[in-house]
Amino acid sequence: MQPPSTIHTTISRRQFLKHTAGGFAALALAGLSGGLTGCTTAHIGPDHTASRAPSMTDLGPPDIEIALRAAPGEVQLLPGLPTRVWRYQAEVLHGRPEAVQPLPDSYLGPILRFRTGDVVRVHFINDLDEESIVHWHGLHVPEEADGHPHLAIGPGETYVYDFPVLSGPGTYWYHPHPHGRTGPQVNYGLAGLLIVEDDEAASVALPEGEHDIPLVIQDRTFDEENQLTYVDPGGHEQMFGFFGDDILVNGKPDFIQPVATRPYRLRILNGSNARIYKLGFSDNRPLTVIGTDGGLLGEAVTRPYVTLSPGERIELWVDFGADDLGSEIVLESKEFSGSSAFPIMRFQIEEEAAVETRIPTTLSTFAGYREDDAVNRRRPRTFDMDMDMENRVWRLNGRTFEMNEVARNEVVKLGDLEIWEFVNESPFMAMPHPMHVHNVHFQVIGRSVLPEFANQRASVEDGYVDEGWKDTVLVMPGERVRLLLKFDTYAGLYLYHCHNLEHEDMGMMRNYRIRA
Ligand code: C2O
Ligand code: CU
Ligand code: CU
Repeated sequence: MQPPSTIHTTISRRQFLKHTAGGFAALALAGLSGGLTGCTTAHIGPDHTASRAPSMTDLGPPDIEIALRAAPGEVQLLPGLPTRVWRYQAEVLHGRPEAVQPLPDSYLGPILRFRTGDVVRVHFINDLDEESIVHWHGLHVPEEADGHPHLAIGPGETYVYDFPVLSGPGTYWYHPHPHGRTGPQVNYGLAGLLIVEDDEAASVALPEGEHDIPLVIQDRTFDEENQLTYVDPGGHEQMFGFFGDDILVNGKPDFIQPVATRPYRLRILNGSNARIYKLGFSDNRPLTVIGTDGGLLGEAVTRPYVTLSPGERIELWVDFGADDLGSEIVLESKEFSGSSAFPIMRFQIEEEAAVETRIPTTLSTFAGYREDDAVNRRRPRTFDMDMDMENRVWRLNGRTFEMNEVARNEVVKLGDLEIWEFVNESPFMAMPHPMHVHNVHFQVIGRSVLPEFANQRASVEDGYVDEGWKDTVLVMPGERVRLLLKFDTYAGLYLYHCHNLEHEDMGMMRNYRIRA
């Protein structure tokens, strides 16, 4: 089955304007790069009343300028026929060549490597036959650069992003965000990692280079002709989300990672549409967690396993120093309520290395917010999740996604620290929901569960890593999760949604507005 196409309506004026910079990037992709720094970009923001700081004109020339194209392609994933995919390809037009690190033989986009403080310009070129837009998951950017679905561009068009990298060092990612089509576009291959580094993080003695391994875990289903399949949009299956039959790591089935007898840093992204992993090793050695969505923890914590829901990242410090040469250890997903156990990938101990590295006691200067400083600490903002069975849409506080609407309880003030509570207590279609908030990193400050769901949660809760900065948090059936979040720097229209991509496409997404 080929990635399906959609019918296109006339290009709106807004989209036409956004298109003006497209010619430059297209030329650059054809190999005529250079001399682009002076090109004018057309930014048509969603809300001109929203203040932006710093504005684009304050940014100065970009340190890194890249062309990022989404286009159909083919990869050899399985024996026999190649698989038709959609994928991101990128080229550095200006700045450090290492800013784009391609993953050979994968449908995944290249790893983008930025540094905190970089001013970045991205020319996104849509060479698909349907609308798309890119979102930088976990980054703190102006609303025009956040990839809201109302910014989606049509086939052949270009959208120019300008933003400073204000986010700290960490493991982020980028993926499409068009209305109703995020699930299929990610499924057909559109996603990539985005790693931010800075000098502070580099001064902490953690494994680097080839000992710092990014791992993107996804599940896919292939038909007899090696082509990717997907759920029927609007069908029954979509309500649960897409669950693939095969596990892919970095876009490859049966993934094997050769390692030496020494410590490694693993940066793991759950890039799946709907599947939750209960990550653990085959010999049940405990996991040493050093980082989460928003970067390194203050200090390492240990877990028997780690529960990782779609959109979440976890960084592990794994020492193979005591493993025998020639042995193998499997990273697997352990059994939990709603899932049986299965292998994810293998680490093969192939090389001797006498490196005595200890994990640093202090990993970062993580300092959280204070709950007492929250402006709404007496009345947390609550978001009830449920499904409208009749209309087959997922809802947040009884509302499904509306492109430009913001409800009364979805307006916050720039600079405020707030408590939000995601409430998954509806008895109908009780499902896990990985909730994601754009533009912020939050702290998880509390959880509770209804007694009738306690067993279900008990099967995953020892793997929660609620320490550190998060942007996506798993809310299990019957659970209520309390967050502390602060709206800094940018006013504007942003999203919060379930990162089960089929739920998102079925309406479990809303706008929130940060008012200056
Ligand atoms: Cu990774 Cu709005 O999502
Ligand atoms: Cu996001
Ligand atoms: Cu959901």
